[in-house]
Amino acid sequence: MFTLFFQFNVVRMVRTHGIKHVAIVSVCVLVVFAFVLRMGSMSPSIEQVLRDVPNLYTKEGEEQEGENKEGGVTNEETTVKKDGRYDGLAALGFSYKKSNEQLDLARKLNEMTQKLVDEQEKRINKLEKERFNLEKQLNTLRRPSESLSLREKLAYLYPYDANKRFPGYIWQSWRYGLNDDRFGPEFKMGEEAWARSNPGFVHEIFNDDTSNAFVHCLFINVPEVIEAYEALPDIVLKVDFFRYLILFSKGGIWADIDTFPVKPVPNWIPENVEPSELGMIIGADHDMEGDGNNEDWQNKRARKFQFSNAVIQAKSGHPVLRDIIAEITETTLDKKRREDLNLPEDGREIAIMNWTGEGIWTDVVLKFFNDYVLSGVFTKVTWKNFHELDVPKLVSDVLVMPKKVFGSPFKYKKGKESDNGDDSDPLVFVRHQRSKVYQG
Ligand SMILES: *[C@@H]1O[C@H](CO)[C@@H](O)[C@H](O)[C@H]1NC(C)=O
Repeated sequence: MFTLFFQFNVVRMVRTHGIKHVAIVSVCVLVVFAFVLRMGSMSPSIEQVLRDVPNLYTKEGEEQEGENKEGGVTNEETTVKKDGRYDGLAALGFSYKKSNEQLDLARKLNEMTQKLVDEQEKRINKLEKERFNLEKQLNTLRRPSESLSLREKLAYLYPYDANKRFPGYIWQSWRYGLNDDRFGPEFKMGEEAWARSNPGFVHEIFNDDTSNAFVHCLFINVPEVIEAYEALPDIVLKVDFFRYLILFSKGGIWADIDTFPVKPVPNWIPENVEPSELGMIIGADHDMEGDGNNEDWQNKRARKFQFSNAVIQAKSGHPVLRDIIAEITETTLDKKRREDLNLPEDGREIAIMNWTGEGIWTDVVLKFFNDYVLSGVFTKVTWKNFHELDVPKLVSDVLVMPKKVFGSPFKYKKGKESDNGDDSDPLVFVRHQRSKVYQG
């Protein structure tokens, strides 16, 4: 069948291209063919190695079992399986007496694998930096017209494409560098867990300087955004704003530095939801009625019900992120014009929530749900639709998670997590210390 097809094509080619072309193409085909053959002859040994690795781990247990039953008899015969076939080790010519060496080999294999993973990670990070620099140059060229509104400029620079995948980024920020003693063991633990449980993701911790540089680079053509970012009078406000800016321009996951991941990110999306149906994943947070705490909630929260902004997964350009960036930019520049940029002493926390935090975040998410042009949702959506939410709820392309998904408590105790409840609960993805890290 293949040769027939091949001959047919040769005849056709000779007719259309002449003999010289055929010669060149034939050589190419031969090279490819040789390569395929070589791969073919290589693959059995690769398969064999893969198959044999688990045997290296199970050997010891089996051996001990054999010793118990047969009084320490370890000879070649015990490697013959019941069905008469030799298992992998025997086929490779090992005997049980060498089991220490084999364990050593296993350990070395493990180390080698780990080394490869580490190198891979380093390479990814390096490529990412190079890509970032290229992007910086491109951003300078991609200049929106001055006549566009702020929201139009943002949409022009970072258009939303619902069909792309969630990018493999995990973004965090902290005022201390990774090698700084003041980083804090309780945060280090979470930071390391994010990296460990999500190999292949780019995981970046920003500090005040690097966030500033990033904002300047990514929004070089929306000077209003940069001006607002610089005008924000408090680091807590800046860290809030930064998460929306980085998610809007790059996509990925934002995780506050006091979070601890329980479930790897690739397992976050439920099986019955197509990744292309989703543009953003967020969690419910304080629910003053649900918390049985509705008296004088105004002293503690900005809204009766709030969405969390501690953990957000998003595709770049999402309209909710575009809107919150525009809202914060406008509010801030307005405050700047009125020379009213300072946070009040009294009710400082609520003022932050209203300006950049969960208060305005909740307003903007609900506004999106009720904008049927953007969200495609025709019924009225209010906070009551998420009151005491206990299963994930998809509204437009935003998957809203129950509070426990991203907000289950994490208690840190002397280098060990403790009293964290049930991590086998399929709806606990991330634990959160709620330590108001950037304040004080
Ligand atoms: C926060 O926003 C809410 C709703 O707009 C408002 O009622 C409240 O007075 C604001 N609080 C502060 C401290 O700005």
